[in-house]
Order: sequence, then structure tokens, then C-alpha cells
Amino acid sequence: MTTALSPAPATGPAATPAADAAQAADPAPPARTSIPGNAPTAAATTAPDPGPAPTVDPARAPGVGGPSLAAARPDRADADPRRALDELARWQAEGRAADRFPYQAVLGHYRAVGKNSVGPELLTALRAVQPPRAGTADPAERLLADWLPQVVDGRDGDYDSYLGSPVYASTAMTGAGTARVITALLADVVAVEAATLAGAPAGLARTRAALRALTAAAGLPAEHGAPAEPAELVRACAEAVAAARAAVPADVLRAVELTLTPTTTSHDEQMFIRVIQIFEAVFAAVADAVRAATKAVAAGRTGAARELLAGAAEQVAGTSAVFRVLTTMPRDAFAVIRANTDGRSAVQSRAYRTVERSCPALHRAVLDSSLPQDELHPVMAQLDDAWGAMKRTHWGITMKIIGQVRGTGGTAGASYLREAAEARLFPDLDRAHQGG
Ligand code: HEM
Repeated sequence: MTTALSPAPATGPAATPAADAAQAADPAPPARTSIPGNAPTAAATTAPDPGPAPTVDPARAPGVGGPSLAAARPDRADADPRRALDELARWQAEGRAADRFPYQAVLGHYRAVGKNSVGPELLTALRAVQPPRAGTADPAERLLADWLPQVVDGRDGDYDSYLGSPVYASTAMTGAGTARVITALLADVVAVEAATLAGAPAGLARTRAALRALTAAAGLPAEHGAPAEPAELVRACAEAVAAARAAVPADVLRAVELTLTPTTTSHDEQMFIRVIQIFEAVFAAVADAVRAATKAVAAGRTGAARELLAGAAEQVAGTSAVFRVLTTMPRDAFAVIRANTDGRSAVQSRAYRTVERSCPALHRAVLDSSLPQDELHPVMAQLDDAWGAMKRTHWGITMKIIGQVRGTGGTAGASYLREAAEARLFPDLDRAHQGG
């Protein structure tokens, strides 16, 4: 299934003047520090302690540039780890049935204080939970096994534990389509943004961008658009979220609900995580489509290969609406997120890498086949162009938000991305055949 979102925004490098980059006041990322209960990283043992990573001022209004609702108005029971610890102890004592795991209490505390501020006692208690055996057929046990890495990783986690990738991998195995996962993630963004609009009008642009992306992804009627007036916008958001969620299976909604464990209490980190999860869903779907198209070519099924590649190109092009949501990220807010997520970079994305690495095999299969090249080259060019546009937009956004500083994945940052954006999926494609 594909998502039909709107065309690319003007966020490429041309739209991000050097002045923007020069203004980006982003400190060099600190070495990761260790917290009690975590094994110290190599960096922490050799580099001087850079002090605590910046946090979000909870006295500010919740919303864009400020704290999350969970942090600004925490339920008293959530602000203290005691409830999660007690419920965890009770769960252990009562037989540890996976379907009765106290997710809500644990997540309530994580979201109220931010993952990087969870104390050693709760972290140790969670690390002591024996995960159900891998590959279990029981859905509740599998969910718990997939979810635990996300809350026991402390500060030393990677990109996958940041996103809850194992939870999505299992959800995908149950047959939930990419479009449904994306719809559920966007519905969450819209709901969270709309919930803070009253106190933080800066969120208007983001909420409208998210509502537009959701409307397109979920195929909702677009006649109401994204109203400018806040009260009307909140109403439109509530209607769209309800309609979108109604079409999403319960296991996908559950996966989305459980996979939000920001490292900080920043409102913006919630959006950031959701946006990355959406891109990961797209990368995984494109990787599957390229693999399936390669098989279809080998089997002589031109039509199937064309359809798969055209669908993949459409999905990649659809990410432009999601990038519009991301561009509402304030630089200051991202500086805080960055300082707290060092070592967790999308440069580690396996699905993204799979797409880039499997395209040469597809091209070889096409060239080796006796299939009409002029029927396949146009869709390959379409996918290549959409992928390239996505990479250029990402580079432009990076220039705007962090400028030229190094990435959290250890690369040179923007200059690395500019070079990577020039690499094509099918560098030797004969574009004379593109006309179809
Ligand atoms: C504020 C927004 C963002 C900034 C400033 C940013 C910055 C960067 C930087 C500096 C890198 C270089 C690798 C490193 O050292 O970390 C990178 C890589 C990457 N980013 Fe982002 N990023 C942002 C958002 C996203 C989002 C939402 C996605 C979606 C998954 C994403 C996907 C990727 C991928 C796939 C790579 C690897 C590119 C390659 O190796 O060709 N980024 N990003």
C-alpha cells in the first residue's frame, strides 16, 4: 500500500541560506556520560566529564520549544518512580504474565522525567525482568520482549532502541500495512500537538502541517483543510484523529502507544521520534519493494516490478509532507535533544542502508533480463529521483537546524550528507528510456 502525500517543500539547500547555518547556535555534542546502573562508555572513561546534558525548563508553557504535557503537568504518581517500582514488584510477585505488565506506570514515569533522568533503582528493576523467550508465538510475550530494550538501554542505547524498532518489526509481521502504521503515528503527532495549542500558539504551524500530512496519509476528506483559527483547528484535529484511528488495527495503535520514550522532557522530541518512526516505516517498505521487484524481474513479471517500484517512489515522495512537520523544530529545542541522544543516529538505520545496497542488484537483474528495458527504466528513475530529493531535503533541514557541526552518529554532519545526497540509487541508469 502507498501513502499519497503532497509534493516536495522548498526545504532543499537552496532554501536554507548560509546565514541560517551560521546562526545555528549548537554546541559540539558532549561525550556520553554514564549514570549509575549503566556501564560507562569508552568515551566516558577517556573524555573529561562535560557535565549534565541540557534539559528543558518545566516552568515554560508546554508545547513547541517547551516541555511536554507529561513533564509540565505530571500526575504526581508519575513524577515519582515509586508507583512504577511498586507495580513492577507486584507484577513479578503475581506470576509475571506478559499481558499484565505495568506498561502504563513505567511509561508514565519515563515520560514525566525523560528517559535520561530515570533513576538507577527503576532501571535496575527493569533490567532484572527476564524477557520472554525470543520468537515466542504469544503476542503479549512477544510485545514485552520487543519493548523491553527500549526502556533498559539507559543512555547507552542506539537508534533502534530509541525508536522501538523491534516492536514495529513484529507489528509489520502481523500484516499491518505501512500506511496504517504511518497513519497511526501521524494521528499521534496531531493529537499531541493539538493538546498543547491553547498555551503555545507557536505550535499552530506544526499542527496544521501535521493535520495536512495525516489527511493525505489516511485518505481523509480534505475539504475542511487545516483551519487557521486555533479553536477550529483543534476541532478539525480531533475529528481527523478519531477518523484515522478508527481505520487502524488495535495492535498498531498499541505499538504506537508503547514506543514513545523520549530521552528528555522536550515536547519537540516527541514529534522528532514520531517523524523518525514514520521514515523508518517508509524505508522498510521501500526495501521490501526493491527486493520483491528484483524477484519479479527474475521471474519475468514486468508489470509486478513496475507496480512495486512506482508504489515505492510514491511513498518516498510522500515524505515531503512529513518533512514539513519536522521543519517546525526550533534550533534551541533540537540542541537539547541532540545533546541527549549522542550515539543514536539514523546513520545506523538498517532499512535505509538496505535500500541503498539492494538497488544495484535490482539494476543488474533488469539488465540481465530479456524484459523490455523501456518499461522498467522510467519507474527506476522515478524512485531514484524521489530518493535523491528526500536526501537533499534532509541535508537542507540539517543545515538549517544544526549547521555544520558533527552528527550524533560521528560523521562530519552536513558535508557528509551533501556528499551522500549526490549518490544515486541507479548511477548507471540509461535515462534515455525515461519518457514513459
Ligand atoms: C532535526 C532534524 C535532523 C538533523 C539535524 C539530522 C542530522 C543528521 C546528520 C548530521 C547526519 C549525519 C550522520 C551523523 O553523524 O549522525 C544524519 C544522517 C541521517 N539522517 Fe538525519 N537529521 C535529522 C532528521 C532526520 C530524520 C527525521 C530522519 C528520518 C529517519 C533522518 C534520517 C537520516 C539518515 C537515514 C541518515 C544517514 C544518511 C546516510 O548515511 O546517507 N534524519 N542526519
